[in-house]
Amino acid sequence: MSQPNTYYITTPIYYVNDVPHIGHAYTTVAADVLARYHRLLGNKVLFLTGTDEHGQKVEDAANQRGIAPLTHADELVASFKDLCQTLNISNDDFIRTTETRHKETVTAVLNQLWEKDQIYADTYTGWYCTPDERFWTEKEIVDGKCPDCHRPVEALSERNYFFKMGHYQQQLRQHILDNKGFIQPESRRNEVLGFLDKTLGDLCISRPKHRLSWGIELPFDADYVCYVWLDALVNYISAPGFSRDTASFEHWWPANVHLVGKDILTTHAVYWMTTLMALGLPLPKTLFAHGWWTLDGEKMSKSRGNVVNPADLAETYGVDAFRYFLLRQVPFGNDGDFSKDVLVNRINSDLANDIGNLLSRTLTMLERYSQGKTPESITGNAPEDQRLQKAAEDLFAKVDQHLEQLAFEKALLEIWQVIRLANQYIEKAAPWLLAKDPEKKERLQTVLFYTTEAIRIVSCLITPFMPDAAMEMARQLGLSDESEKKNLQERCTWGKLPAGLPVAKGKSLFPRIQTKKKTDAQQNKSIAKKTASPAPIKPLVTIDDFAKLDLRVGIVRAAEKIEKAKKLLLLQVDIGNEKRQIVAGIATKYAPEDLIGKEVIIIANLQPATIMGIESQGMLLAAGGKKVLALATFQEEVPPGATIR
Ligand code: MSP
Repeated sequence: MSQPNTYYITTPIYYVNDVPHIGHAYTTVAADVLARYHRLLGNKVLFLTGTDEHGQKVEDAANQRGIAPLTHADELVASFKDLCQTLNISNDDFIRTTETRHKETVTAVLNQLWEKDQIYADTYTGWYCTPDERFWTEKEIVDGKCPDCHRPVEALSERNYFFKMGHYQQQLRQHILDNKGFIQPESRRNEVLGFLDKTLGDLCISRPKHRLSWGIELPFDADYVCYVWLDALVNYISAPGFSRDTASFEHWWPANVHLVGKDILTTHAVYWMTTLMALGLPLPKTLFAHGWWTLDGEKMSKSRGNVVNPADLAETYGVDAFRYFLLRQVPFGNDGDFSKDVLVNRINSDLANDIGNLLSRTLTMLERYSQGKTPESITGNAPEDQRLQKAAEDLFAKVDQHLEQLAFEKALLEIWQVIRLANQYIEKAAPWLLAKDPEKKERLQTVLFYTTEAIRIVSCLITPFMPDAAMEMARQLGLSDESEKKNLQERCTWGKLPAGLPVAKGKSLFPRIQTKKKTDAQQNKSIAKKTASPAPIKPLVTIDDFAKLDLRVGIVRAAEKIEKAKKLLLLQVDIGNEKRQIVAGIATKYAPEDLIGKEVIIIANLQPATIMGIESQGMLLAAGGKKVLALATFQEEVPPGATIR
């Protein structure tokens, strides 16, 4: 990873219309890992998070409670700040859009754009979606409803102010094309490029006060407030001091990474980037859009009452275990399904079994065979010594490379490979047998050193993910507080373990979580449910029959409902050299917006068929019979058009 002197990372600022949920925790924990990692590398870090407090959603939430918006916001902000504390988040700043420093910057931004002739007034007639706070054109609405949230829209004609966003379309397109890592992951970059293929309109950046008063007043027209999205996006420059503290602003800007969820990609990739262009400011280096968590396969929402509370999970299962789970379970750009069973399995297998055992057995060995002290450094010649040393020595570079790509799960997987290798090493070396043979004293010391050194390197590298556990590991290993030390790379080199430090075996790092045993009847029922009358296997085919099918990787670029067909969606799927239009019977399981950017498997040489008057040029693979259970997709990113065997 290149080592800039400064590393500025942001999360979205969260709406204070409701209490925090797992989605908020997810981005914030991911940003925290990167911030901590960069501090350990010795970089100067600014890690910003905060709350988005203006606009219709917040005004409505306050009205419903019969209190002033600011009173409402003050209360909810506390729950977001508490969550940061609970999850051990190391943010350097927390910005609220109702703070004076932010309002001043928004006013300055609006003034600059106005003076540069980037804003004009016009009367606009369109369809307005109140919950989403945005206008849609006649063509965009679907059955009188918002194409985004599917709630009714209302016709509105009013005078407003517009930012000349369309003017920057080509410049933005070019920037994305020239800078491969600018929008990540690749599927999201393609999504934005697809969006920019269509004409980019101008952006309405005002709301008349008679309709919405809870916002920042336009400096050039007191009858209007600023559109909440523009107000919110400006937080990324108001916190480091744009228009107020030039030295600080220039020190931090441009940001290294904006982390956002996939639903707010366009607002960031297009609205925000074009605004920065208009202000003449450099663009952030990376905008990364992560996937969404569902609960037991369902979208989480207040109305469904299935919102996962992150503070409860952290309290029940432990903060570090929860942080580990969030980043290990699902590749960062993908969607993931949350279930308590999966969380408990992860904790028991990776944390209690793998790392917990490794630490506890190593400490027991040191107590028994090394007078409770860290061993002397010894060079081992056995192939297994060298294998463990190499794996531990190479670990920093691998983790570094994965974190550069924000591939948290891969970084953790690499660390766990070393943990597992160290456990196997102990089993193979059997130090308890070596200890019985006086001639094997030196071998025993070698084994103790190799194990302890591997675990020391592991403890350094898990620090950003699980800061408390890493600190406790270091403490038990007799090392002084490793987590606060900088120069991580140097600390991860083999052979740095100081000899003779007293170790202090303590409480178990990650106690095993007892799972309730199911009664036989329950077990049978759940097995029956899972395997309910699987369809009989069809007659055998030859390998030549199978080879006739041309299965390809496709990326869904566009998806829409088909009128009068409840179960069908019309998809535009990119298979490399061509785009296929596919009618898929998956509408009961997936909403169109859930599919954009998904990598799917399609049968590319299936005879086209006409369904509901639309030609379908291929078929998607999915699990299930008549009822679709899940689309077949990939664990890793794969290029469109790749063949599947
Ligand atoms: N206020 C805007 C962001 C303005 S940034 C200048 C906003 N706020 S939000 O509170 O609604 O959402 C904040 C973040 O939470 C978004 O990145 C969104 O993607 C994320 N999530 C909301 N639900 C989520 C899941 N179920 N799973 C993962 N992240 C999700 O949008």
